Amino acid sequence: MELTKRIIQISQPMMGQEEWEALKEPIFSGWLTQGPKVAELQKLFADRHNVKHALAVSNCTTALHLALLAVGVKPGDEVIVPAFTWVSTANAVIYCNAIPVFADVDPVTFNIDVKKIKEKVTSKTKAIIPVHLFGLCTDIDAIKAEFPNLKIVEDAACAAGSGYMDRPAGSLGDIGCFSLHPRKSVTTGEGGMLTTNNEEAANYMDMLRNHGASMSEEQRHKGPKPYILPEFNLSGFNYRMTDLQGAVGVVQIKKLDKFIDERQKWADFYSKELGNISWLRTPQVAKGYKHGWQSYVLFIDETKSPMKRNDIMEYLQQNGISTRPGTHAVHMLGYYATNYNLKPQDFPGAFACNEYSMSIPLHNKMVEEDFHYIVEKIKAIK
Ligand SMILES: Cc1ncc(COP(=O)(O)O)c(C=O)c1O
Repeated sequence: MELTKRIIQISQPMMGQEEWEALKEPIFSGWLTQGPKVAELQKLFADRHNVKHALAVSNCTTALHLALLAVGVKPGDEVIVPAFTWVSTANAVIYCNAIPVFADVDPVTFNIDVKKIKEKVTSKTKAIIPVHLFGLCTDIDAIKAEFPNLKIVEDAACAAGSGYMDRPAGSLGDIGCFSLHPRKSVTTGEGGMLTTNNEEAANYMDMLRNHGASMSEEQRHKGPKPYILPEFNLSGFNYRMTDLQGAVGVVQIKKLDKFIDERQKWADFYSKELGNISWLRTPQVAKGYKHGWQSYVLFIDETKSPMKRNDIMEYLQQNGISTRPGTHAVHMLGYYATNYNLKPQDFPGAFACNEYSMSIPLHNKMVEEDFHYIVEKIKAIK
């Protein structure tokens, strides 16, 4: 096969006949919005992540919004956010009229540097959002031990199936927020999931995702008085997931561990093959961590590399291999730089990750040949 004639995508959803078949049930039953399929997905997701409650929502950004409200974030409160993450981690804080306070990241893990949190904590700090970036968990126990009063909302957007000290992502802090976007290991097109062991928070988020209604449509329709509308004692949102998505999610979540096992195998291959190249660093996974491998992200040392990071990405693109920077340094994005008066070097770790990280393809549609080809092309950089 002539690989250079096609692009090996950075990510592709792994969907097929089973997902297609699963759509028939909601289509023919006519129950399309949050209903039995969403409930089934929630149960499977909660069991897999070892939590009492899982609540499906429209995406991870809306999950973060609800989680922050549920842990009590109020206007004017400060919430600590890593400076290197997807922009919506910080945007969700703004939805609450609260203030995102950035803390630097460790370029080795790409996650928040726990040593950098203390200098950011003030009397107004209410919560922290550790991000399990690319599927590697943040050391939540260290955060809990040092800051027992801070509420912890895990941004587990990339971390379905990831783990830490034998505990799943999403069960580590007060509330976990997952993404089911197509760039994640399992997907519902768009979609998100909240996880918690706190019943009160779960009930609150359950109402908030559904306009603030005291009961869901399904409960009302199947209950004794379907003609009585629910009470609305909260001002909520429409952040519901559809049952079409729920049906696809049920099929996908059952494949999560298989997908991660395959990704683990190829991540090991990459690390073995690329680990000795002096100008790049392969992902480092400390003992006790189960990486979910949402992405495989390299760190380029431009003081040693024959080409700059962006030139390497261009060279790989020309050779049919798509790459991306890991994610972005949020403090360098126009909105945040301007409104919070932030300079690139305010967070040197995040700045370095922004400039020198490079994600290479790792997904379940790839075949053995793809991985060998990518390694060959990277090794050829001289
Ligand atoms: C770390 C992180 N947080 C939040 C999100 C937002 O997820 P969604 O697109 O489901 O809103 C993403 C998505 O890429 C992400 O990577």
